Amino acid sequence: LWTPGNIVDSMVESVRAQVGRDEVILGLSGGVDSSVVAALLHRAIGKQLTCIFVDNGLLRLHEGDQVMDTFARHMGVKVIRVDAAERFLSKLAGVADPEEKRKIIGRTFIEVFEEEAAKIANARWLAQGTIYPDVIESAAAKTRKAHVIKSHHNVGGLPERMKLKLLEPLRELFKDEVRRIGEELGLPHQMIYRHPFPGPGLGVRILGEVRREYADILRKADAIFLEELYRHELYEKISQAFAVFLPVRSVAVLGDARAYDYVVALRAVETVDFMTANWAHIPYEILAGISNRIINEVRGVSRVVYDISGKPPATIEWE
Ligand code: XMP
Repeated sequence: LWTPGNIVDSMVESVRAQVGRDEVILGLSGGVDSSVVAALLHRAIGKQLTCIFVDNGLLRLHEGDQVMDTFARHMGVKVIRVDAAERFLSKLAGVADPEEKRKIIGRTFIEVFEEEAAKIANARWLAQGTIYPDVIESAAAKTRKAHVIKSHHNVGGLPERMKLKLLEPLRELFKDEVRRIGEELGLPHQMIYRHPFPGPGLGVRILGEVRREYADILRKADAIFLEELYRHELYEKISQAFAVFLPVRSVAVLGDARAYDYVVALRAVETVDFMTANWAHIPYEILAGISNRIINEVRGVSRVVYDISGKPPATIEWE
């Protein structure tokens, strides 16, 4: 009988049988899949699990603290938090091309992850949050050269180079099953129903060159947008929503003074498979409230626009 409880029990058993007394490493991103793997492995093997969480400086507001809170503080999972913001940002300086940025972020992630993983002396396994649709996607990508969605979290040749074996307990599950298992394991609802977030993070939501100043502005605007969606109970009706930083300045009048500040675009879509998407018809009054809050509360932003482009042709991300 497929109940989340039964599935968790049998997964716990099979992980224990597979791993024995070995140490396991997991790259924890804070997304649904790696979070569920962390919770599952923690239940199965406790202290034999070490998670590595890399802060690349391109995460959302308070994201690192939230991950540490949930896993390290509340659940007692062993998590190593690596503050690598400076390292990522200095490599990104002066780079404007989206694919080049993706490559730099992906490569740097692997470097940082490998350095940390090498410190865990007795590790024999590398766990990953691969789910069934990823298995299909990467099989398809081999033949049609599509961009591999999880390229960033897929730590390349690491398993072979470090002589680690792959542990992928969610490999046969669909997203909704992963969520039910996450609930069964006691993960917070908000974490389980989070929108997808790309591996390169804000790196592809800051158009052109990435700068710390831009990332700080974007984080605040994005947090207000999502907070308002939660408050109006729209967050879970929308498939993905986020703010985009446009490095162009526009004029505004603030009091008596003339401001010449940046533009933030809001993107919200409804989709089933992320291959095609419609822009979400958020009520005007709610958009008005979000715009007012961002312009009033985020220094450096003087104008907010709403993206009304469908996919195709416009991709969900702006880069
Ligand atoms: P697009 O922009 O191609 O996005 O319509 C479709 C879905 O994929 C996500 N996305 C990425 N995820 N690395 C990722 O891990 C990437 O480089 C990347 N690019 C896009 C996007 O957020 C959306 O959910």
